[in-house]
Parts: sequence; structure tokens; C-alpha cells
Amino acid sequence: MIVLAIETSCDDTGVALFNRDRGILASVLSSQVDLHALFGGIVPELAARKHLEALFPLTQYVLKESDLSLEEVSCIGVTVKPGLVPSLLVGLSFAKALAFSLNKPLVGVDHLEAHTFSIFLREKIDFPFLSLVVSGGHTSLFMVKREGEMYLLGCTRDDAAGEAFDKVAKLLKLGYPGGPVIDRVAKEGDPQSIPFPRPLMGKGWDFSFSGLKTAVVQYVQEHGEEIQDRRHLACVVASFQRAVVDVLAEKTLDAARHLRVSRIVVAGGVAANSVLRSIMKERSEREGLKVYFPPMPLCMDNAAMVAYVAACHFAEGETHGLDLDVSSRSIYPRWNP
Ligand code: KG4
Ligand code: ZN
Repeated sequence: MIVLAIETSCDDTGVALFNRDRGILASVLSSQVDLHALFGGIVPELAARKHLEALFPLTQYVLKESDLSLEEVSCIGVTVKPGLVPSLLVGLSFAKALAFSLNKPLVGVDHLEAHTFSIFLREKIDFPFLSLVVSGGHTSLFMVKREGEMYLLGCTRDDAAGEAFDKVAKLLKLGYPGGPVIDRVAKEGDPQSIPFPRPLMGKGWDFSFSGLKTAVVQYVQEHGEEIQDRRHLACVVASFQRAVVDVLAEKTLDAARHLRVSRIVVAGGVAANSVLRSIMKERSEREGLKVYFPPMPLCMDNAAMVAYVAACHFAEGETHGLDLDVSSRSIYPRWNP
């Protein structure tokens, strides 16, 4: 059984071919970072147009790479939510056209479920586990009971963690996307030097990052001159980064303790963060918990993770009709034991 999957929920176009026994046959990603960097953030209309340009050549590429023809594909998996609606619509329309013309089933996939199961492309994890999905658009903590059964424990009330990285980097004129550059610059700074707030710490499992961003804005307004100094700038970003990481790590570990779950998956673009990786590992080990991070390329948006989830749903007979639609949001049931 071979799945052709399409990912266009944000600003990266992904196409992959996947087989449950053989794993990823081919996976390719076309990044739009350079385009959006000109504007300091994603421009949805431009993202949609770029997806349209990229999808056909990327599909041809993965077929060639794996020496397969479209006729050999068993089903078409596609991200339908959550994400930027214009971008999602381009991916879904392309997937529908393929499904219709080839007479193959269509499987709509939730992007957060795809991030959660991206680790399974590398190793299988026993259920239940907690999944922290941290990306440019999302900060959501889930209890995962089994494939296709996820409950929301908490999510952000305002900015996503990655969004906070991107906004702070923009404020400090460090470029876009902000996460990788802050991760790099912070290595030269002292993360304890500025006591930025840890929003909603100790107050349940929801997150909030806009107040932290405002605290950085205020600090920059008050210390404009000093921030010109490279070392001082590094201290600001290191302290900001540590505040984000502390909140993510403490809330996730608190949920694991309360719910007595010993496995934690951290996925999404922010899971690439070096400090989040080391602090989560260190604090989890101390408490006898095991934390799993997908390999770097699978942390970022990609179509292989979409293919994995599509294959699971297809195997369960869960396919969709051509009336399938996209949505900017995902609604998960809250955990209520
Ligand atoms: O999952 P992803 O590729 O796309 C979304 O679904 O949003 O995540 C992109 C986000 C961006 O906000 C980017 O700044 C952030 O992930 N990011 C990082 C790092 N690498 C990427 N944030 C912190 N540290 C990093 N090393
Ligand atoms: Zn994502």
C-alpha cells in the first residue's frame, strides 16, 4: 500500500511517497522562507500561489525518485486542517484532482496529528503518551491514547511559541524565521541575565506567550542603546528563549506527572530548538520519564508525516469524499477522564 501525501498548510510545500512496510520512499520540501523573509512574515496569498507552482514538479520528482507511477499509488493523503485556508485549499484541490482522475481514495489529515506521529517514521512508541506540538502556528499539548485518538490538555491562548520566536526576532531585526536565528545567537548569551516572565506557570496546562513578547518589547524600549552591543543582545534572546522553554517544559512535565504518563513526544518546528531539546531531556530523565524528539527534518513541516497518518486512516477504512473541505482550525475533545 503506497500513499502519496501533500502538505501545504503553511509556507512549505511538501510531497511524499510512503509505504507502511518500507517507510518513506521519497519526501521533498520546497521552502518559501526567502520569499516571506522579504516581508518579515508569511503572506498567505503569496504562499498559496507558490504552492500551486510547486506541487506538480514536486510530485513528478517523488515519483521519479522512487521509480513509481501514479497508477501504483493506493491513496492520496492531504493536510486539510489547521492552517492558512488559501494554502490548504491549493493542496486539497490538487489532491482531489489526483484522486478523481486516478479513481483513488482521498484521506484528509490533521496537521497536528501528523506532527504528533512524525516520530513514528523513526520509531514506534507505546501508548499512551503526551504530545507537545510546538510550531509557528500552534502550541498544543495532547494526551494520545492511540492512533486517531487524541485529547487536548492545553493550548495557547494567544501567540504560538514559534510565533513568539518569530516576532521577537523581527523586533530585534534578526530576520525570519526567528527560531533558528535566536537559537544560534542565544548560545553567546546568559539565559539567567534578564528575568522575563513565565506566563501562566503553575496555572494549568494552557499557554500564553504574548505577554512575554510584550516584556521583551518593553525591555528593548528601555535599553535601546545597550542592545546595540552584541553580547547584550545575545543575553536578551537567551533569556527570552529560556523563558519560553521553561514554560513549555514545566507544563508538559506537570501534565505527565499528574496523568502518570511516562512518555512524551515533542514535535513541530520549535522542537528543533537546542535548549528545549536539552532541558526536556535533562528534566525528564531526572523524573524517570522518556522524551522523544523526531529527527530535525521531520520536526519541520513535511509530507512524510502526513503520509504516515493517512496510511493509518486508510488501513482503518477511513477515507473521504470529494466534498472534503479545509479548515483554519482543529477542534479536539478536551481530556476529561
Ligand atoms: O512546524 P513548522 O515548520 O511550521 C508550522 O507548522 O508553523 O514550524 C515553524 C516554526 C517557526 O515559527 C520557526 O521560528 C520555529 O518553528 N523554529 C524554531 C527553531 N526552528 C524552527 N523555534 C525555535 N528554535 C528553533 N531552532
Ligand atoms: Zn507544522
